Amino acid sequence: MTKAVERKVMKVLAGETVFPPPVWLMRQAGRYLPEYRATRATAKGFLDLCYTPDLAVEVTLQPIRRFGFDAAILFSDILVIPDALDRNVRFVEGKGPLMDPITPDGIAALDGSGMHAHLAPVYETVRRLRAELPAETTLLGFCGAPWTVATYMIAGHGTPDQAPARLFAMQHPAAFETLLGLLAEMSADYLIAQIDAGADAVQIFDSWAGVLSERDFARFSIGPVKRMVDRIRAERPGVPVIGFAKGAGAQLEGYRAATGIECVGLDWTVPAKLGRQIQAGGAVQGNLDPLRMIAGGRALDEGVDEVLETYGDGPLIFNLGHGITPQADPENVTRLMERIRAAAKQ
Ligand code: CP3
Repeated sequence: MTKAVERKVMKVLAGETVFPPPVWLMRQAGRYLPEYRATRATAKGFLDLCYTPDLAVEVTLQPIRRFGFDAAILFSDILVIPDALDRNVRFVEGKGPLMDPITPDGIAALDGSGMHAHLAPVYETVRRLRAELPAETTLLGFCGAPWTVATYMIAGHGTPDQAPARLFAMQHPAAFETLLGLLAEMSADYLIAQIDAGADAVQIFDSWAGVLSERDFARFSIGPVKRMVDRIRAERPGVPVIGFAKGAGAQLEGYRAATGIECVGLDWTVPAKLGRQIQAGGAVQGNLDPLRMIAGGRALDEGVDEVLETYGDGPLIFNLGHGITPQADPENVTRLMERIRAAAKQ
């Protein structure tokens, strides 16, 4: 009999302390890597890259080969859900994502019934990844949280403070609630399909949680995420969920209990005292400032040491506090990996 492989990320998600901690980086497949840019240049557009399993598998594996991360994250985007809803999603060079802004009437007309057919290539990518990844590498599926996806659907593009979505929620509360409910159900279906294709765990990105008031955070962020987690719990018990509510600050304190997630993603602004309190309840993930991956040198080393000192004696998945940026130097990722892995010897 072969010895069961140990996936370190899964151990931490179960609440165990592993030191040195397992590592992966949000947005680890992307433009900071020359090999990503080369593969990207062979695809017609960004969505073609997401929907072509040969290419999506390749770019998912690139950072695993180069750095030996403990988890691979499926290469796709949170905006494939609006794309599956026919919102005319496109990625324009230098402009970020664009789509047709939705109206209350448009929300009433949304039809998610074609989602699984539309996203079948993504599920195929997950299947191939599980077959090709090293046995010890955790495979993460992901999607956007309903609130964050809704912000793009309403504005039609990224904005600094999501004013269009916040105003829409005030002016059209019923339509807004319908939208969040639809996105929660579709996103739960989507994550369950990724789990069935081979994802070991899933992460829900609520990148825009930080612009919400306390009451709206409870209604628009926590509520729909809980609805998704409840479905995953009921339909695929035992699959851990990581929740990343960026910028939620003090509201993160009750986030694990309120949503039912296993692991709380911390951004780099979370005070150590709060982060430690959250970690007393289970796994945390984070939280190096991504700019340290540009700065390198001492700024990088000090940042790595601080995360290890603050969270290393509890269940920690080492990560950045948000995605790695295109300006990051891949050499700094190598340096980060060496420093974390050498920490064991102290
Ligand atoms: O390596 C990985 O992490 C997997 C792939 C991944 C992408 N996007 C690929 C991508 C993941 C997990 C995401 C999540 C995502 N997408 C989020 C949540 C995380 C976060 O960063 O807050 C959000 C808000 C999006 C929406 C999105 N997609 C934006 C705003 C942009 C444009 C800005 C940017 O970073 O370019 C994208 C495009 C995108 N998604 C790229 C990649 C590699 C770059 C596009 C390209 O290569 O042309």
